Amino acid sequence: MQILQDISLKPFNTFGIDVAAKLFCKYKDADELAEAIANSPNTERCILGGGSNILFTKNFDGIVLKNEVKGVELIKEDHQYVYVKAGAGENWHQFVLYTLQRNWQGLENLSLIPGNVGASPMQNIGAYGIEVKDFFYELEAFHLEEKKIFTFSVNDCGFGYRESVFKNKLKGRFVILNVTFRLNKVPKFNTSYGAIEEELQQMGVTGLTAQKISLAVINIRRSKLPDPATIGNAGSFFKNPSVSFEKFEAMKKSYPAVIGHKNADGTIKLAAGWMIEQCGWKGFRRGDAGCHSQQALVLVNYGKATGKEIYDLSEEILQNVQKKFGVALEREVNII
Ligand code: FAD
Ligand code: EPU
Repeated sequence: MQILQDISLKPFNTFGIDVAAKLFCKYKDADELAEAIANSPNTERCILGGGSNILFTKNFDGIVLKNEVKGVELIKEDHQYVYVKAGAGENWHQFVLYTLQRNWQGLENLSLIPGNVGASPMQNIGAYGIEVKDFFYELEAFHLEEKKIFTFSVNDCGFGYRESVFKNKLKGRFVILNVTFRLNKVPKFNTSYGAIEEELQQMGVTGLTAQKISLAVINIRRSKLPDPATIGNAGSFFKNPSVSFEKFEAMKKSYPAVIGHKNADGTIKLAAGWMIEQCGWKGFRRGDAGCHSQQALVLVNYGKATGKEIYDLSEEILQNVQKKFGVALEREVNII
């Protein structure tokens, strides 16, 4: 474990924002993490995974703790399930592929989401009708003040749409070290969402497997979302907001094409990308900060945008959507 000084964070965030961290340290287990904390007292901390859901708006005057906890382990199994524990520093997509190769079913709809395993419960990552909470079993996390490891069950995590206790109530207090998933031995596929069925048909798939669903999801994602290796971004910048049924009906009168889906509690989740597009932002570019031309929910860095430029653009969009639709957007990306 080595604490480095004045390190550029550009390679460590998918927006490609060039800011510096005063201190920077990679740790591969709880002991190294504890040592890094002991060696940097009274210092602000930023836990970093793959940097794919973070926007740095200024230099970070504290210590960036880069999670490199590795390892994947089958910890137990019964006739229905396998329980697989993965280090927080494992790459998410590689982990999904690892499980699919072994015919452990469940995570295929979450293929190709950037970032690491450790951040997956942070915002309960979701895509194509599945969320991490659906296959989550437990996690171990290091309490930064008490310097002890705690185990969190699914109920302890307070999972919601792009939410968990780690993103709100317990923000900044715990470092997730590993996550255990409970995956199916007998598959139960979910292909009902969005374009999955259509893509499977185009692929000519007859016998359905988790691997084929994974490929379909990968194809759809590649056709829609910008690759951070080419254009800096952090996926959806805002969450899809929910409104009451009455509000949705009122919106439909003025905007018959408004897109919304019913939540379990009867409220309606609106497509933020559609609202942003209706405000005219899709494809907008100012300097190197922009709103993606194929997916208005994704803000992008064409090269040299600063985090502040992207944040300021997000603020303009947020206010514009509020004014036009009377709907408050909430940022999904973590702002530092
Ligand atoms: P980081 O960006 O490094 O961190 C995110 C937050 O979690 C930060 O607040 C950080 O401090 C905290 N954190 C990270 N690791 C730990 C840890 N071990 N312990 C405690 N706190 C930690 N997300 C979706 O849900 N669905 C999608 O479909 C999706 N698509 C995307 C597509 C693209 C092209 C991109 C760039 C992003 C997309 N995302 C999506 C967002 C992102 O991939 C996920 O949120 C991912 O889980 C972030 O992982 P990360 O390791 O990069 O986290
Ligand atoms: N839409 C537009 N214009 C746009 C973008 C979208 O009209 O510019 C419309 C689409 O036509 C569609 C609807 O909005 O009818 C929803 O769009 P899409 O299917 O692309 O999904 P999304 O709601 O924009 C969400 C997640 C993604 C996730 C996909 C697939 C959020 C905030 N985003 O996007 O997650 O991959 O669904 O499940 O919930 C992320 O969190 O970073 C992320 C990429």
